[in-house]
Amino acid sequence: MPHLNYSDSQSIIITIWNKWIFYNKNGPMFSGRLLAEVFTWTFLEEAGIMIIGVPREIKNSENRVAMVPSGVKTLIQAGHQILIQKGAGLGSGILDQEYASTGAEIVSTNQDVFNKAEMILKVKEPLPPEYSLLREGQILFTFLHLAPLPDLTKALLKAKIVGIAYETIQLEDRSLPLLTPMSEIAGRMSVHVGASLLHKERGGSGVLLGGVPGVEAGKVVILGGGTVGTNAAKMAVGTGASVSILDIDLNRLRYLDDIFGGRAHLVISNYYTIEKLVKEADLVIGGVLVTGAKAPKLVTQETVSKMKKGSVIVDVAVDQGGCIETCSPTNHENPTFVVDGVVHYCVANMPGAVARTSTFALTNATFPYVLKIANLGYKEAMERDPTLMKGLNVHFGKLVCKPVADSQKVECAAIEF
Ligand SMILES: NC(=O)c1ccc[n+]([C@@H]2O[C@H](COP(=O)([O-])OP(=O)(O)OC[C@H]3O[C@@H](n4cnc5c(N)ncnc54)[C@H](O)[C@@H]3O)[C@@H](O)[C@H]2O)c1
Repeated sequence: MPHLNYSDSQSIIITIWNKWIFYNKNGPMFSGRLLAEVFTWTFLEEAGIMIIGVPREIKNSENRVAMVPSGVKTLIQAGHQILIQKGAGLGSGILDQEYASTGAEIVSTNQDVFNKAEMILKVKEPLPPEYSLLREGQILFTFLHLAPLPDLTKALLKAKIVGIAYETIQLEDRSLPLLTPMSEIAGRMSVHVGASLLHKERGGSGVLLGGVPGVEAGKVVILGGGTVGTNAAKMAVGTGASVSILDIDLNRLRYLDDIFGGRAHLVISNYYTIEKLVKEADLVIGGVLVTGAKAPKLVTQETVSKMKKGSVIVDVAVDQGGCIETCSPTNHENPTFVVDGVVHYCVANMPGAVARTSTFALTNATFPYVLKIANLGYKEAMERDPTLMKGLNVHFGKLVCKPVADSQKVECAAIEF
């Protein structure tokens, strides 16, 4: 139930009054502020009107925003109220005026957003300065990646919010519709980034991935042949590099064999094949995922120490803890570090660097779920759509996502509405 002040309720009463007159020919049935407010609250609840807030992202170099003006317009047409923090869209090239012209209210601080909104839409997980802004029962719809983050998990449980994670919403075919667009982007970026880090002046070995006639091409090894891996392979194959993709799923390898038509080597993933290929690689890309869980450590520190000096690792899976033992999260300001002569790039929010593309790609995928939650409330939306139910990670102080609970070795509670 939204918190209304009197001026809010007056403006809403006018809306309701019009609807009421439209549906009822008997004339007004009540007057006075008290009755009007009671009626208003009941109406809001029954009509499923929700106050939705979009704060500006505060993670380092995070330029994405969780909603674009077309989404605001659709939600407002459905009767909802939208609060956008001043400047939230600027990093993605969206001006406050564009949001305001669709009917959103522009507010100055993230506190204004968190205080009033029943549902907070974000891109990245809340950071410590945001923890105390969360309110009991508030819906938080964003990327959470809780498995490797016990402190954040504790903060969300303490705040007793309803935390729905983009990355664990899963369709029947096991695909991850809200992670997919970001994985497409990060997968494609991983080859740009890796190719550039191979340049001598950036600490690399000085290998041009595609080689030239008469000189051997660089070797790219991709761990995981899912969305990140496939998109990385598309780019790497395009450069003319020699590309190997490793996965544990034989059917996925068969599928990749069909789409790459012999231009990539498809290899079953185990510690033996990983060590053999990684030692010889110029560029290793980490793109494995066990949905919701901490990433398995597939490349040991010992294997990294046997890699060629100046070779490059881009661990895209770092947001789930990373699949290479020597990796730890970095940011866009200081994206790399060197271990045993190998350049490591481990930015957990890679798509933030291409914010304009990423914001539109992300919101294309998130918006249908936002609309569903706003129109139906999260409980009914989840009861009607089991896909969305899989996104529920924390619920009023209980951790309800099994892969996250297993990763943190704590008990998973049942979802109780
Ligand atoms: N850093 C970033 O900015 C960023 C952006 C987007 C996605 N990601 C992350 O990238 C990772 C991959 O995402 P995705 O969408 O490609 O996932 P996905 O589910 O599409 O693909 C993961 C693949 O890993 C394979 N896999 C699992 N265990 C394996 C193992 N032991 N060896 C080899 N392969 C194995 C699976 O079979 C699957 O094909 C996730 O952690 C995701 O969160 C990071």
